[in-house]
Amino acid sequence: MAENERTSIESVLNEDRVFEPDEEFSRGAHIKSFEEYERIYDEAAKDPVAFWESVAESLHWFEPWHTPLVWTEPHAKWFVGGKTNVSYNCIDRHLETYRRNKAAIIWEGEPEDEIRTVTYQQLFNEVCRFANALKSLGVEKGDRVAIYMPMVPEAVFAMQACARIGATHTVIFGGFSADAIKDRVNDCACKVIITADGGYRRGKVLPLKETVDSAVESCPTVESVIVLKRAGNEVTMREGRDHWWHQIVAGKNTECPAEKLDSEHPLFILYTSGTTGKPKGILHTTGGYLTGAYITSKWVFDLKDEDTFWCTADVGWITGHSYVAYGPLANGSTVLMYEGAPNYPDFDRFWDIVERHRVTILYTAPTAIRAFLKWGDEYPERHDLSSLRLLGTVGEPINPEAWMWYHRVIGGSRCPIVDTWWQTETGSIMITPLPGATPTVPGTATRPFPGIIVDIQDRSGKSAEVDEGGFLTITHPYPSMLRTIWGDDERYRKQYWSEIPNVYFAGDGARRDKRGYYWIMGRVDDVINVSGHRLGTAEIESALVSHDAVAEAAVVGRPDEIKGQAIAAFVTLEGRHKPSEEMEEVLKKHVAKEIGSLAKPHDITFTEALPKTRSGKIMRRLLRELATTGEVKGDVTTLEDFSVLEKLREDEDGEA
Ligand code: WT7
Repeated sequence: MAENERTSIESVLNEDRVFEPDEEFSRGAHIKSFEEYERIYDEAAKDPVAFWESVAESLHWFEPWHTPLVWTEPHAKWFVGGKTNVSYNCIDRHLETYRRNKAAIIWEGEPEDEIRTVTYQQLFNEVCRFANALKSLGVEKGDRVAIYMPMVPEAVFAMQACARIGATHTVIFGGFSADAIKDRVNDCACKVIITADGGYRRGKVLPLKETVDSAVESCPTVESVIVLKRAGNEVTMREGRDHWWHQIVAGKNTECPAEKLDSEHPLFILYTSGTTGKPKGILHTTGGYLTGAYITSKWVFDLKDEDTFWCTADVGWITGHSYVAYGPLANGSTVLMYEGAPNYPDFDRFWDIVERHRVTILYTAPTAIRAFLKWGDEYPERHDLSSLRLLGTVGEPINPEAWMWYHRVIGGSRCPIVDTWWQTETGSIMITPLPGATPTVPGTATRPFPGIIVDIQDRSGKSAEVDEGGFLTITHPYPSMLRTIWGDDERYRKQYWSEIPNVYFAGDGARRDKRGYYWIMGRVDDVINVSGHRLGTAEIESALVSHDAVAEAAVVGRPDEIKGQAIAAFVTLEGRHKPSEEMEEVLKKHVAKEIGSLAKPHDITFTEALPKTRSGKIMRRLLRELATTGEVKGDVTTLEDFSVLEKLREDEDGEA
């Protein structure tokens, strides 16, 4: 109750280090100054639809749209009447140009000495052959196809092939269980599953086909399974249902004309698990999604033909869709893809890859950056990282400590950092610096991208004051927004459009500072209410991590008779530090000094690792359960490593 009445979130963070864009970088950038950004932004804000039309015009359309936007809240249709094809825009367009023999994908397998380069012409051939193979299995425009694969070029071929013929793909992260596959495949009634015998992870082989086999038992709509031979592990092939990739593409034509699809044709469904309930099938469509992925790739990453762009996300996440499989290719760029783990065979694998391939742009997650920081400077220091010119982060608030480390150790104090805020639902980057234009401050995603109108509001829709925390909202439709939740439009309305009148509710707490910069304070569900003060998790965690001894931290609220909620912190120490009562006191004092005694944790549990989702987000929900009831009964299907929870339970028991 009180939770709902009080609608603002208090901010306690204070960060004032400003990094101006490097002059030389700015000179060569697509967007060269803050003035230029503001001019484009302001013009777009006056007429977002006209702005997005001008972006969409730089793509290929078989037929032009007659109406740029049809908006019946909460449903948007963009570029109505227009016909286009995502795969055509990512591939065919470049074949008429000097890019025909340019590398589209440079791939490195986890086992060493395994490198493949796929040019745009080769990409075309592979995608067409595979598209024809799908057709030969009876896949038609509008059918759903599941992709459950390791990070290999064929995963991108498969996505592009679906896009080419108008089949709607749903990529399921290769680490998910048979149950997770079953739920997703059945929810959207897939006709085909594309998988591999196995995939490499940290030197071991994950038996993907075997997992698919047990899922398919309970997937009545699946007619065929296509299996890429990747790891060479033994698999059983069911006659009539299962087909080897190499056999089914053999002899297929390398021409497969791209379908002329309606702009609103469903391109993909990507399942995202919220904090509660079953996964939501987020639906993205063709023309609008492509427009968003294309222009954000170009401006946020300042993509040039000479770049080697490495987004480390798996294609199982939205980041791997927009910034591996689609956005960069729509720009004719070279993307680097790596199959395996960052610590195999050693903790320097990423830096080894950057050095050998002369990677120029690196886009990764705060959770990875905190792990690198914890492993130590010696690993990046073994390598020449001077090819890097731009760094990016996504997925969680990046604490200033990790930002500064990324800047100094990986970026050689030379590279701009783009901290990009967006969601599976938004399809493309929403709040972000433009690297040649926006002065950055560690910990903030800065300003909205042109054409994106955001606000911080309370429950009634009133805009927050400067530095007053509230709910992050998006107030105007934009092309790459989700269209609905597959099969559950009611849930779409309820989840995103009923919390605050007439705007999109992102579910994040945020504040806007005096520069107009946006600071994400964490998920609204995670807000802690201490004596009537609502505190976001990000700031307290950031204060903890700013102490030398701390590698990573998560805070949650647990019921407290006096204060309403008390702050329970879970802390992972850097290797050389040991948990102790003194350390607990030191850290509590540190937080009090950094951001005030209101935010001081009431108790600290030291732990070797935090429970995370497979995409690297800390699962505060589990920690909250643990801190509240001493056990975890909720859904743990997205948990990355179960042993972490076991250990934590033991620790808690030990303390009690
Ligand atoms: C949620 C969306 C978007 C691709 C990866 C995650 C958090 C994302 C940032 C950032 C602070 C961030 C938000 C958001 N988030 N980027 N730069 N700063 N928080 O996609 O799994 O749909 O998660 O991730 O809480 O709502 P997702």
